[in-house]
Amino acid sequence: MSSSFEASATAHPNIALVKYWGKRDETQVLPHQSSLSVTLAPLSILARVEFGHPKNEVEINGVVAVGSERDRVIHLVERSKLWCSPPVRSQLGGARVATRGDFPKSAGLASSAAAFAALAVALREALKLPRDTREESILARLGSGSACRSIQGGFCLWDRGQREDGNDSFSRQLFPADHWPDLRLVVAVLSRQEKDVGSRDGMRHTVHSSPYYPAWVKDAEAEIPRAIEHIKSRNLEALGELAERNAWRMHATAFAADPPLSYLLPSTLGVILRLREERKRGKPFWFTLDAGPNPVILTDAAHQDEALQLVKELGADQAIACLPGGDAQREA
Ligand code: DP6
Repeated sequence: MSSSFEASATAHPNIALVKYWGKRDETQVLPHQSSLSVTLAPLSILARVEFGHPKNEVEINGVVAVGSERDRVIHLVERSKLWCSPPVRSQLGGARVATRGDFPKSAGLASSAAAFAALAVALREALKLPRDTREESILARLGSGSACRSIQGGFCLWDRGQREDGNDSFSRQLFPADHWPDLRLVVAVLSRQEKDVGSRDGMRHTVHSSPYYPAWVKDAEAEIPRAIEHIKSRNLEALGELAERNAWRMHATAFAADPPLSYLLPSTLGVILRLREERKRGKPFWFTLDAGPNPVILTDAAHQDEALQLVKELGADQAIACLPGGDAQREA
């Protein structure tokens, strides 16, 4: 078997401004509602794939992957082989997959989103298939839902889709990264502790036990056209307010689960309340928060340094200023 079936690709993580929280189909990773995000440069993950090995091997940041992390990667590898004709498929053998990030896996950023997006692109390249952002987004989605939004850069919309096979549930770019170069997203690392309940289990628990869940779905879907309008007009205040509102509502839905689910730490609330104070003084700071304690501050280039300093004062041991990033791409 020729070892020429190999390729590397990189992708940026993304932060959702309208969050994805809950699946209608766990196997196909199909969401109950659409979501919208922006990619975070300069953070990125590199994925390398080499077919032609006697068995599948997976390494994440230099450590051999086991359990569900490994299974999810192998699932994508096996699915990608279906893109090939049976004769090619039968020759591919096992794949050696390695992913490496330039930011800490434990920083609360969606490193898995970037990793699965990079892997989807690397698999297509390794199999010598032309780029196809729809196919790549669907494949990345099967690894981790939010990963489908890291195939293309800038501002992306993951349409929930209607079909049972998931073929219409993928992400597409609405605006490229250079649509809003002045936007800044400051990631505040307040805790590096592994969370008790991961996104996958947390959203399942919320769907099944929160009485607010139907309201969450309806509200999040309704926010999408408004978010698109605010991004289109580069209205930071309106987008910031919307992102905060959506993050609060996602967390409120989780708080209402039984037993309740909270991802906030006292220091998270400390940052959130301080941002509110700063806004009264005219500072353009808004937060969003994924399923973890580390907030991401929306601001502009002129206030980036102030935001970095503020979150450090409030206990962040690391703060990273990001801006909208480009597409996932093949690397040499
Ligand atoms: C809160 O994409 O990590 O970050 O599909 O189960 O792998 P799985 O979940 P994942 O969940 C992301 C949840 C979120 C919101 C978001 O990114 O939209």
